Amino acid sequence: MLVGREAEMALLRKALQDGKTALIVIGSAPGMGRSALLQELRRCAEDMNWRVLPPLSKEEQAADAFSIDRDTTECDFLESISSGRPLDSKASDKTLILINNYQPSEAFERAFLQHCIPEMNLAASPLIIVAAGYPGDMASLKPCADLNIELDRLPIRATREYFNSLNQRIQARMLEEEIEEYAAAAAEDPGLMGALTRLLECDRTSYT
Ligand SMILES: Nc1ncnc2c1ncn2[C@@H]1O[C@H](COP(=O)(O)OP(=O)(O)OP(=O)(O)O)[C@@H](O)[C@H]1O
Ligand SMILES: [Mg+2]
Repeated sequence: MLVGREAEMALLRKALQDGKTALIVIGSAPGMGRSALLQELRRCAEDMNWRVLPPLSKEEQAADAFSIDRDTTECDFLESISSGRPLDSKASDKTLILINNYQPSEAFERAFLQHCIPEMNLAASPLIIVAAGYPGDMASLKPCADLNIELDRLPIRATREYFNSLNQRIQARMLEEEIEEYAAAAAEDPGLMGALTRLLECDRTSYT
C-alpha cells in the first residue's frame, strides 16, 4: 500500500492520460520510495490497459514484487534501443517502460537520446526513468524530460498511516507509542521504513 505521494501519483496519472508525455524523470535520495511509487504506478497503468515493460515473471506477480530494478537490457524494447533498431510500432501504443536505478552505459544513453527519445516524442509513448538517488546518472536525460519529479521526505501523517497498516499485517503487536515513534523516525529518515519493516516482519515470524 502506497501512502502519501498523492501529488506525484496525480501527475503520473495525468501523464498517462494526456497522450503527449514521452519522458518522465523521477529522482530522489536513496530509500525515499521510488520503487514503491513505481510499483503503484505499474498497477495503475495496468488497470488503464497499458502494457508495462519489463513484464513481471509469474513468481514476481505472485509475490506482488517489482521487476523494475532489473537490468535494463532484459527488456527487448530497451535492447532494440541499444542496437539502434527502430521502435516496434506495437510498443509505442500505450506502452509504459519502467527503468529503475538507471545507470546507463555510454552507448545506451547515446542511442536513447539520439534515436529513441525523438521517436517517442512522435509516438507519444511515455517512459519513466528512475535513478538510484544519484542525480548525475540522469543529467543528460533531464533536459529532454516532459516531467521532472523529485521525491521529498514523506509527511508524518503518511508514515503513521504506513506503520498502522504494517501493524495490522503483523497482528497488532505494536503499541500506539511505538507506532508513533517509528512514524516519527521514518518521517525524519525514510531509509528507516524498509529497515523497520523487515525487522518487524521478521520479529512476527519468530513469534508464530
Ligand atoms: N510512500 C510509501 N508508501 C508505502 N511504503 C513506502 C513508501 N515509501 C517507501 N515505502 C517503503 O519503504 C521501503 C523503502 O522504499 P523503496 O524501496 O521504495 O525506496 P527506494 O527509493 O526504491 O530505495 P532504494 O534507494 O534502496 O532503491 C520499502 O519497504 C517501501 O515499501
Ligand atoms: Mg528502489
